[in-house]
This record gives sequence, structure tokens and C-alpha cells, in this order.
Amino acid sequence: MAHAVVILAAGLGTRMKSKLPKVLHPLMGKPLVGYCIDTAFASGAEKVVVVIGHGAELVRKTFAGYQNLEFVVQDRQLGTAHALAQAKPALAGYPNSVVVTQGDTPLTRVETLTGLVEAIGDAGMAMLTMKLDDPSGYGRILRDEQGEIVRNVEQKDATPEQRAIREINPGVYCFDHTVWERLEAVDNNNAAKEYYLPDLIKLYRSAGKRVVSTESTDPGELLGVNSRQQLAQVEQVLISRLCAHWMAQGVRIIRPETVYIEPTVQLEADVTLWPGVILRGSTKIAEGAEVGAYSVLTDAVVEAGARVKSHSVLESAHLGAGSDAGPFARLRAGTVVEEGVHIGNFVEIKNTRLKRGVKAGHVSYLGDAEIGEDSNIGAGTITANFDGKRKHKTVIGRGVFIGSNSTLIPPITIGDGAFVAGGSGINKDVPEDALAIARARQENKDDFMKRKRESE
Ligand code: UD1
Ligand code: CA
Repeated sequence: MAHAVVILAAGLGTRMKSKLPKVLHPLMGKPLVGYCIDTAFASGAEKVVVVIGHGAELVRKTFAGYQNLEFVVQDRQLGTAHALAQAKPALAGYPNSVVVTQGDTPLTRVETLTGLVEAIGDAGMAMLTMKLDDPSGYGRILRDEQGEIVRNVEQKDATPEQRAIREINPGVYCFDHTVWERLEAVDNNNAAKEYYLPDLIKLYRSAGKRVVSTESTDPGELLGVNSRQQLAQVEQVLISRLCAHWMAQGVRIIRPETVYIEPTVQLEADVTLWPGVILRGSTKIAEGAEVGAYSVLTDAVVEAGARVKSHSVLESAHLGAGSDAGPFARLRAGTVVEEGVHIGNFVEIKNTRLKRGVKAGHVSYLGDAEIGEDSNIGAGTITANFDGKRKHKTVIGRGVFIGSNSTLIPPITIGDGAFVAGGSGINKDVPEDALAIARARQENKDDFMKRKRESE
């Protein structure tokens, strides 16, 4: 059952108070209308047309990679029927059903769309309905004694009796291919002086076509985003859905209401997430690994059994199996940590490989370096990788001991088994198994302080 989808998204979104078009506001890392577009394609749509208002160029650019997706512009917002009419050139002659959704309700489910496509049968139109305890603001559904839908009345146009009706129109429809000609008969004789899309109910019926419905009981589907507050509410619903999903897969989430997990993240069984964890982008966390409180991971890979301790930040970094990092560790782009590595607090690592068994326990900066197996990086070790113009590489062999507060000035290579004395500034290669000391020799002046005190 092939169908097309039209997404109405030309509303101005003035209540967002933003320069960014409303449809592009990010919701868990993905633009708002992207949810509707992905849902449309997931429902099997052959073609998706999005009706947009301002910011068309930016919107088109954002979705440039999509196939069978077209954007049409509605210059003036004259109502939902007028909005749909803008899609006519894009779908003229299309022989199958046309589903219509709203671009600011990102939680509309795939099954809702496929359900309407199945329900339409030989009726002219199928629409979603929902029963609400508080129907205020929505169009109300009027039915006859047989239970057939006869029309929709907007809140603004409704009598007090009609306002008491609890069955509402969520704004999701499926029309047969004749919808385009029928749209021309919609007028704007109503309180808002707008062309109302639900007026097609009357028009289909007067042409002898039935209007059928499916009902949704998921209140999330109704959640529209008109303000920043509603954006946050929708985000919370999405996060709770994701947490429920991951917990069902065996992930332990301590205080799920505090975490932020984007839909693109992948987790395995027995992963533990402590409160306040933020997981973004293509982050992948393998079996049994743990992420400590208030850590932020973006496009990071954490292998099985590894531990990211609290307040750490990982960005395009790889933490190997059984390794640990933090608290307060920062692993930047290009960091590759192999297995069984220990990274302690206040260690910043960038574009560096730490081979198996390396220890960097305290307060260091390691950039553009390669550190061999089982080497020990003392507290306060700094790679001075930048000379003001270019970045240079530090190569440290295996089993090396770098004493505390050493500055390694590359390009340099420190051979296997070498030892750098604490407080050294190293700018020449250190041969294998050598001891390198590069600091002023200590001098002790006997009784100097005693004499000073006595002369005062
Ligand atoms: C609409 C329905 C109402 C339903 C409600 C559900 C009409 C007349 N009413 O009302 O029965 O209960 O949705 O949320 O359809 N849009 C355009 N161009 C326009 C006007 C709207 O693209 O000229 C888009 C908006 O961006 C939005 C959608 O259509 O995504 C719905 O428009 P909105 O103004 O929010 O309609 P409601 O008044 O809420
Ligand atoms: Ca609305």
C-alpha cells in the first residue's frame, strides 16, 4: 500500500523567540522536523513533501542528503488547507493515498501513519482521533447517531455544547488521491478567516465518500512544540522512552530522570550509567562498562568493563577494555586508550595512543604522543606539542618512567626502559635504558638559614 506524506511546517514559531526556524530546533541532536521526516519514510512513504515558511534555504541545506524529499514554500500562512495546497505541484498525478502530518509534533508514531493508510480502504479520508479529559484548544469531532464522523469544529467556532466534546482532532490524516481538487472548494468563512484542512470532512461527505478514523491513546503523539518549554517536555518524553528501551536491554540507569541519551547512542547489557550522564552522537558503550556521574561522552567508544569515573569528558575518544579514566579526565579527539590503562584525575589527552598497561595517574597534558606498553607517566607531565606554529610528536617507548613535573619538548623519542628524572625539561632523544636528567643541579648551602636568622 504505497503512499506519500505531506508534513505541514510553515508555522512561524514566533514563540520560540529564536533566529533559527522552528523546524530546525534540535531535539536530542536532530532537527525537530527531522523526526517527522524519518517517521514518514519509516512508514513506507514513496515521497515526502514538507511545506515550510521562512528559512527555506537553510532547511533545504540541512536535509540535502535525503532522497525523495521535497520542500515547498508557503509564503503566507493562510491556514492548514492552504498549506496542503502548496504541495499539489509536487504530488499532482500521484495515484495513491496522501498522509498529512504536522511538522511540530515529533512524537507521532510510525504505526499511526501506517494505521491510517490501512484504515482508509475505499473511504475518501481517514483521520486520527483522541479522547482527552481536557480537549481545550483542539478541533472537536462531531459524529452522527451511527457514529460516523460528520465534521470537525475548531475551538474558536464551537458552541458551548460542542466544546464539551472530548474527542479531538490531533491533525493527522490520510486522503485519497482526489484530495487536490477538493482542496479548491475549502473556504475561509470561519472565526480565524483561515482555510481549514479538516473542512475536507464535509466536502468528502457531500461527494458521497465516507470519513473513517483510528484512535490513538498515546498522549505523546499530541505533544506539539511551540515554545522552548514544550521542546523540553518533548525531550523528556523522548529520553524516558529511550531509557525504558535501554533498561529493557539490560542497562542499569541510576536516576533515569537525570540522564541525557541521544537516539544514536548504542549501549550493551550490564552497562551502568550514574546520575547526570550525557551520551551523545555515535557513542558506544560495551558490556559491563560504567559511566560515572556527570560525565559527558560524545562520539566516544568505551569497551567492555571499562570505567569512566565521574565528571569526565570524552570526545571522539576510545577507552579500551578494562581501562579506567577520571574522575575529571578529558579525552579529546584522536585519543586511543588500549586495554588495562589507568588514567587519573585532571589528565587531558589529545590525539595520543596509550598502549596496554600505561599509567597516567595525575594532572597531565598528553598531546600528539604515542606511549608504549606499561610506561608510567608521572604527575604533572606535559608534552609541549605546539611550538607556536606547528604540532610535533612525542614518542615514548615501552616500560618508560617519566618522573613528575617533566616537560617533554618534541619532536623527541624516549627509548624503551628509559627513566626521566622528575622536574626535567627534555628536548633531546633519550636512548633505551638511559637515565635522563635535565634540570639545574641542586646546591645545599650549609647553615645558611641559621646565619640569616642570627644576623636579623
Ligand atoms: C490544527 C487543526 C485542529 C487540530 C490541531 C491539532 C486546523 C484548522 N485545525 O489546529 O483541528 O486539533 O491542529 O494540533 O487545521 N501550518 C502551516 N501553514 C498554515 C497554518 C498551519 O504550515 O498556514 C502548519 C503549522 O506549522 C503546524 C500545523 O500546520 O505544523 C498545524 O497548524 P496550527 O496553526 O498549529 O493548527 P491548530 O490551530 O493547532
Ligand atoms: Ca497546533
